[in-house]
Amino acid sequence: MPQIKLINIVGARPQIIKASAISRAIRKHYSDDITEIIVHTGQHYDKEMSEVFFDELEIHKPHYNLGVGSARHGRQTSLMISGIEDVLLKEKPDCVVLYGDTNSTLAGALAASKLHFPVIHIEAGLRSFNKTMPEELNRIMSDHSSTLLFAPTNAAFKNLIGEGFKPENSPPYTISNPKIYLTGDIMYDNTLFFAGLAEKKKAKFLEQLSLESNNYVLVTIHRDSNTDDIVRLQEILVTLKTLAEEKNIVLVMPLHPRTIIILRARLKNLYDDLNHCKHIKIIPPVSFLEMILLEKNCRMIVTDSGGVQKESHFFKKPCIVLRKETEWIELVNNGTAKLVGADPERIRNEFLNFVDSQADLEYPGFFGNGKTAEFILSEILLMFEKE
Ligand code: UD1
Ligand code: UDP
Repeated sequence: MPQIKLINIVGARPQIIKASAISRAIRKHYSDDITEIIVHTGQHYDKEMSEVFFDELEIHKPHYNLGVGSARHGRQTSLMISGIEDVLLKEKPDCVVLYGDTNSTLAGALAASKLHFPVIHIEAGLRSFNKTMPEELNRIMSDHSSTLLFAPTNAAFKNLIGEGFKPENSPPYTISNPKIYLTGDIMYDNTLFFAGLAEKKKAKFLEQLSLESNNYVLVTIHRDSNTDDIVRLQEILVTLKTLAEEKNIVLVMPLHPRTIIILRARLKNLYDDLNHCKHIKIIPPVSFLEMILLEKNCRMIVTDSGGVQKESHFFKKPCIVLRKETEWIELVNNGTAKLVGADPERIRNEFLNFVDSQADLEYPGFFGNGKTAEFILSEILLMFEKE
């Protein structure tokens, strides 16, 4: 079989991390079969939001960086579509691989499907059922532009069926006759792979932050619904600060630049207050290996991140989700993740509940066997064999 040329589109932090699972599996098992090209839209561009992951996770530097940067949704997405289209016309790949639900995902889906390049969507089928969430529109449109859809969980697979995708479709697969798969989660592959490495390479990281294992809470906040509404952001942070003081526990917050920018510009007094509080450590975004260590050693996690919610499960930590709904519904049904929105009372109750007692919590394997990337690549190759 001739080699196939695959274009990986990344742009935001979690996509770079996700793409590393596919890159690693190509290098390990399929380097004779697949040529990989990485296109970075430039959606994330700070060193600690982008470059750090290429260095640390040993991913090939992007072959193309479109340098799109930050902008309103329409402008950002349109610049990405235009840049990706140019690359696709030049490279003429056999397929285009997309991850998750960001504007970079959507741009890749539109550019590729309009030019009739098969789109492969990894993390397909996830739904929050909240169409005011920008990611929800990206998910739906990307899934409906795809030829192969890899759903990481049962719920995601069922969502696709609910939207008319047919599991019984047979080859040849096309955008009009797409194939849906229930796989696992490539981020579970990554966690298994990098957890050991994190211990070796970053052993001193917790010490540098003066953190004691099991004696701090990890907090991340970046979702637009929390950051752009400053009343909401303030309520969340004030509630968490009060709880930290009351329970005498440290909150470690590697904050997304979006959150820092808003705190500095619009909640300056609160930001100063947090920085002076001995129970709060606001730090810049950390590398993935550092994040793994923070997750693995914390008492519990408070987050609005999709990826961090799941990683809480991988590391068997209870998770308070600062959202009203989640795509990772298995975690909530399992009782180890609690949806609290930004409601101070609910944050308080769940925080106190989890911080003191975690005896009955169990963390079943919802996310595959750690070899999801290999499975995905073998199915991609099969599609071209059958053509
Ligand atoms: C994006 C994704 C979100 C994902 C998140 C992962 C969309 C619509 N949203 O949200 O789904 O969860 O990435 O982290 O695609 N900024 C910097 N430096 C950077 C990047 C961003 O300062 O390197 C600041 C800018 O002020 C920018 C803001 O963060 O305006 C938001 O960035 P953007 O990429 O638009 O959205 P995210 O909130 O990062
Ligand atoms: N992450 C990281 N450093 C940080 C915060 C997050 O490496 O300071 C990782 C995290 O472990 C997860 C991914 O980034 O794998 C999640 O990204 P993010 O929360 O930005 O986006 P989401 O998953 O919500 O789209």
